[in-house]
Amino acid sequence: MQSATVTDVTARDGLQDAGVFVPLAEKVALIEGLAAAGLPYIEATSFTHPSRIPMLRDADELIPMVLDVVDRLVVLAPNRKGVERAVRAGAQRVLLVASASEGHSRANLNHSREEAMRIAKDAAAFAGEQGMATRGGISVAFECPFDGIVPTGNVVEAAEMYLAAGVEVINLADTLGTATPQLVKERIRAVRGAIGPTVPLGLHLHDRNGCGLANVAAAIEEGVTHFESALGSLGGCPYAPGAAGNLDTETLLRFLEVQGIATGVDLDLLPRLRESVLSATSPTRKEAPWPDLQR
Ligand code: COA
Ligand code: ZN
Repeated sequence: MQSATVTDVTARDGLQDAGVFVPLAEKVALIEGLAAAGLPYIEATSFTHPSRIPMLRDADELIPMVLDVVDRLVVLAPNRKGVERAVRAGAQRVLLVASASEGHSRANLNHSREEAMRIAKDAAAFAGEQGMATRGGISVAFECPFDGIVPTGNVVEAAEMYLAAGVEVINLADTLGTATPQLVKERIRAVRGAIGPTVPLGLHLHDRNGCGLANVAAAIEEGVTHFESALGSLGGCPYAPGAAGNLDTETLLRFLEVQGIATGVDLDLLPRLRESVLSATSPTRKEAPWPDLQR
């Protein structure tokens, strides 16, 4: 593989479970900064019920403030109502979500796995009618905090639903951060075998056991070209107890770079953004000296 597509999810996943509410102006600066660094896609916010994800309750105001980079933006919507709000705000690309386990589906989406798949399918169809690009997210595609290791068949069912819905990419999410290279390979092969070669597959990565980059390497071997990560390893699902932070975006990009895989991102612009967002999410934290000497 010569190139990979990275979606940075700091502004959505990274902030959704933060201990403090990050003000609009700082969210805008983060999104604009990621766009300036060349991130091809930036997951900017989610249009969920504001009482369920209060840290992103400003989604309707945020998107109109970053329309200059709207072609890079992805927003999460859990149902048709979320897509309606996203359209009204001016978003052009939406990530639908369905859980591969019963337990997480009920905790996260308040619906059974089957109902949630119907809701995601309906929301995808509606988004398509509105001219939006759609992505299909499969939460807990590996292990669920409530139900344990998730049956491969559940992941395949969700992927088949998204294939029929016409999404541009299907993301397998390691919501807990406990996937292993072997599990990644098994799931990718099963999904690829079921849906055929047309739709790209992506990995949305968290990292609890230090397997993050090994999972990326395993996925690359299986032909995966899309990866999702967050600055400073922020992130975690409030409805997945024990979920670890996302795989760190800079670590992912450096890994891809040393593997000779182009990402189009200027890594030198990321340390300052990472420090700003870490300070915004933990106000008492002292900023590390900058420029960053890691590279
Ligand atoms: N945005 C705003 N309000 C919404 C909404 C949305 N996307 N979806 C539903 N609502 C409102 C409805 O209008 C209704 O309002 P009312 O009581 O004033 O009439 C109320 O919420 C209940 O609607 P319902 O469709 O029954 O939703 P629900 O209570 O079953 O909740 C979700 C379903 C998906 C909206 C909710 O569980 C949720 O927001 N989960 C967050 C998931 C998430 O983002 N997790 C982390 C990332 S994966
Ligand atoms: Zn996540």
